[in-house]
Amino acid sequence: MTSEPRDAPYPELKKTHTMAYKGRPWTDYKPPPAAPVWAAIEGLGRYYILLAALELDVFDTIQETGPSTVESLAEALDVPVGHLGSLLDGVVALGLLDQFVDVYELNDTAKRYLVSDGPATMADLVAVAPGPHENWGRLAETIRNGTPSTPIEDDPAAFYVPLVEGTFTTMFRCASRADLRIRYSALENPRVLDLGAGGAPWSIAILKACAHGSAVINDLPGIIEVAEAKTAEHGVADRCELRPGDFHAIDIEDAAYDIVILGHVCRTEGQDGARHLIERAFKALRPQGRLLLADYFTDVERKFNPHAVIMGTTMMASTKKGSTFTHQQFSEWLRDAGFAQIRLIEPIGFQQCFVATRPDPIRRSSPPGP
Ligand SMILES: C[S@@+](CC[C@H](N)C(=O)[O-])C[C@H]1O[C@@H](n2cnc3c(N)ncnc32)[C@H](O)[C@@H]1O
Repeated sequence: MTSEPRDAPYPELKKTHTMAYKGRPWTDYKPPPAAPVWAAIEGLGRYYILLAALELDVFDTIQETGPSTVESLAEALDVPVGHLGSLLDGVVALGLLDQFVDVYELNDTAKRYLVSDGPATMADLVAVAPGPHENWGRLAETIRNGTPSTPIEDDPAAFYVPLVEGTFTTMFRCASRADLRIRYSALENPRVLDLGAGGAPWSIAILKACAHGSAVINDLPGIIEVAEAKTAEHGVADRCELRPGDFHAIDIEDAAYDIVILGHVCRTEGQDGARHLIERAFKALRPQGRLLLADYFTDVERKFNPHAVIMGTTMMASTKKGSTFTHQQFSEWLRDAGFAQIRLIEPIGFQQCFVATRPDPIRRSSPPGP
């Protein structure tokens, strides 16, 4: 009678990881866990759990009601109890709500980032930050074709208006905190140029700190209106000139500005486009003027900052030329353009910014006296 072969737990390993193959001392081989694969699979569900909670107003409602049972939340939100319970448990599993027995309540993360009036709210950002969702479903096709089928450049206002409204709180906090590192508030009457300004968080922070400062604010038509509204809301519109158009092509005065901002604009432009913007910034600055270049940067091996690495993939998925670059690449491009005193600051977590100075022109030393 032939016996059935035994079902070995890891048949592929049994062939090579036995005492017969390894000799003594023989160490058992522990196969790698499947957790990274599950993390990727669950990533999709995690994202849509958060998005649904925001769309249903879960966080704002719990802020109003205080700690609540699923029954009372279902009544407040007018949705079925069973489905809502499943969603809330998912949000708890994500660490974005607390739950004690059958009562759900906001935790510190939700209070800060997910209620719509939280001090660092990201509530409006969640839906737009990954780019158009349909582009993720076509990622393999984008890689085969070398370009996304619906790049954001085809309809920039549709993508950027909600994006820059959603990122304003974070970028404004970053720009305000940057003063602790670069002391723009010490400038008497700085002239600022903000290219691809979005809601103009950097210009607004600088103008609020410098009562006699002024700014030229650029963005594309259809998007620059966000800056128009935000500068009015913050009471600095009378010191701002709006200059709509493509930042590669608009007229820019030479040696006229104390500060030029390139805030999260380089990563859509490809290497040549990013270098062109840096060169334009250099020409626009007065000697001793400073460029502030904020973006997500990767380390030289593109391994140690997964946030920036995945942002690069996100750019590839939805833009024609976008990707992230390394700190080293930016440092070299800044030096090549003529900048000096290049340093990197991180005004708030995850938000880094190069600060680079246009040096004084080299003065010819006077000829030796008689
Ligand atoms: C990621 S947002 C950054 C907004 C803002 N600078 C900030 O730091 O929050 C990029 C901005 O660049 C603008 N932009 C993209 N391409 C542009 C172009 N060719 N000319 C002018 N602005 C452009 C977009 O409309 C958008 O407002």
